[in-house]
Amino acid sequence: MQSIRKKLIQAFSESKGEFLSGQALADIAGCSRTAIWKHIEELRKEGFVLEAVRKKGYRIVNTPDIVTENKIRLGLQTSTLGQVIHYEESVPSTQKIAHDLAGNGAVEGTLVIADEQTAGRGRLMREWHSSLGNGVWMSLILKPHLPPQKAPQFTLITAVAVVQAIEEVTELQPQIKWPNDILINGKKVTGILTELQAESDKINSIIIGIGMNVNHSIEHFPDDIQSIATSLAIEQGAQLSRAEVVQTILERMESLYTLYMKEGFTPIKLLWESYAVSIGKRIRARTINGTIEGTALGITADGVLKIEDQEGIVHQIYSADIEV
Ligand code: BTN
Repeated sequence: MQSIRKKLIQAFSESKGEFLSGQALADIAGCSRTAIWKHIEELRKEGFVLEAVRKKGYRIVNTPDIVTENKIRLGLQTSTLGQVIHYEESVPSTQKIAHDLAGNGAVEGTLVIADEQTAGRGRLMREWHSSLGNGVWMSLILKPHLPPQKAPQFTLITAVAVVQAIEEVTELQPQIKWPNDILINGKKVTGILTELQAESDKINSIIIGIGMNVNHSIEHFPDDIQSIATSLAIEQGAQLSRAEVVQTILERMESLYTLYMKEGFTPIKLLWESYAVSIGKRIRARTINGTIEGTALGITADGVLKIEDQEGIVHQIYSADIEV
């Protein structure tokens, strides 16, 4: 995005609904008032409702439920995550675009977001249903200076960030099902897909895909997942601003990522366990080597799931489908 537009959005974010004169905006953005007027018209075309009053200037009075770069930037309180945003209306998968960008020098915190995915994918190459205009379909690029073995922890950091974000924008109480499902009232509202570009000893990029059902009604889901999927709107009984959801995820994620890089996984582990649905319960884990049944004890310092079977043997589960 042109830097004038960025500065304009920043100024409107800080003015919090107060008028800003054309001259003040021109001074802030370092351009002419005519250029400001052109950018205001572009924002209007995008769906922003801007009031213009003589001698007072402009203010934003309403914004549509869109997830464009301008909308996410308006009010975003992060210093790194989401400071570069690639928005597309429809893409096969944001994950694929983020991989390409990550391999071509994208900066840390780059966000790829779309209104629709035509080939969204989940774990184990499963299809991820991503219908137009009602979900959050996004991929975030991080570049931590860490060995590749640490990558699975990012799924758990993200899960905590998503839970905290949902708690902040709704009255709901989401739970985490290891490793990557966020549930509300036992139904899946969000999935997380963590992928890696790495060398043997260091991570180049982590690409974190988040798929969240936000404003879906039950009919928006294909028949075969209607009994296991839900959305924030279904659970809350009200529609939400998708951009606000995205901003809150980015803000929570930035705090937790900073905490993790400073203090390691221990504080994240405690948070994660406080939200986990299965700890202390009997569960069944289907792994590629067979099914293990037992009591979920918690996660290790590396984020690996521990299950104690009937003989008292503790199994460490790196990858599985869990039935609670
Ligand atoms: C899962 O639960 O299996 C993970 C689902 C991850 C879906 C997200 S939507 C944004 C990003 N793009 C994709 O194609 N997948 C992830």
